[in-house]
Amino acid sequence: MLPFPVASPSHRPVRGPTERNRHNQEVLLEFIRTHTIPRPVPFVPEIRLYQAEEPIALWEKTESESATQQPPPFWAFAWAGGQALARHILDNPTLVADRPALDLATGSGLVAVAAAKAGAHPVTANDIDPLSLAAATVNAELNNVRVRTIEADMLSADPPEPVVLAGDVFYSREMAARVLPFLRRAAGRGALVLVGDPGRAYLPTDRMIRQTTYEVPVEITLESVPTRPTTIWQVLP
Ligand SMILES: C[S@@+](CC[C@H](N)C(=O)[O-])C[C@H]1O[C@@H](n2cnc3c(N)ncnc32)[C@H](O)[C@@H]1O
Repeated sequence: MLPFPVASPSHRPVRGPTERNRHNQEVLLEFIRTHTIPRPVPFVPEIRLYQAEEPIALWEKTESESATQQPPPFWAFAWAGGQALARHILDNPTLVADRPALDLATGSGLVAVAAAKAGAHPVTANDIDPLSLAAATVNAELNNVRVRTIEADMLSADPPEPVVLAGDVFYSREMAARVLPFLRRAAGRGALVLVGDPGRAYLPTDRMIRQTTYEVPVEITLESVPTRPTTIWQVLP
């Protein structure tokens, strides 16, 4: 089944916009359920996520079925930064409890699910990849929490939430150059801004306060090592 929205062929009944959106969402959810397995997150076993066995085969599948270039299936794995941030929030729930929280670049939705479990409310998961928001939706359901999703590039805006969480967002020069000003602006507006990062090349550590470091189990085919030391940073304005 195709993982991405497609135009309805002419022999099918014409759908209205809402019905078509619902149909596309169902296609994405079905793709996730077909190509992943619900299992505990290694460093956060109290959370289960729909996760893929193997990244390259899944990436090839998304590309071949959509017949276009696609981003890597970030949504199908719990990245080191997200695992560490989820662990930190669950172990320190007062950081987020009873406060609105944004999980920027949510991927699988792991950090959003952890924030909701720790008592944040409402929790918003944001990403630019429609499969990511579908994954966040099924993963929130799997863990019996409520997470709302926003599919958009918000990096030029100012986040209204008083808690902003970002797991593993410094993986490319381009992403880092856009994410950092967004996070600094959020901190400047008084938000608590926490980043989880396993020492990615484009992480700046000036005007950041180290909170703690965890040794996080990671996917060896993605990271070439079984664990990565991963730090929680509080971003300052
Ligand atoms: C390495 S993954 C991290 C996912 C998750 N936070 C975690 O730690 O498991 C990076 C995510 O950033 C998302 N992303 C890339 N550009 C973005 C943008 N401009 N706004 C929001 N998300 C973006 C990607 O789609 C991907 O899901």
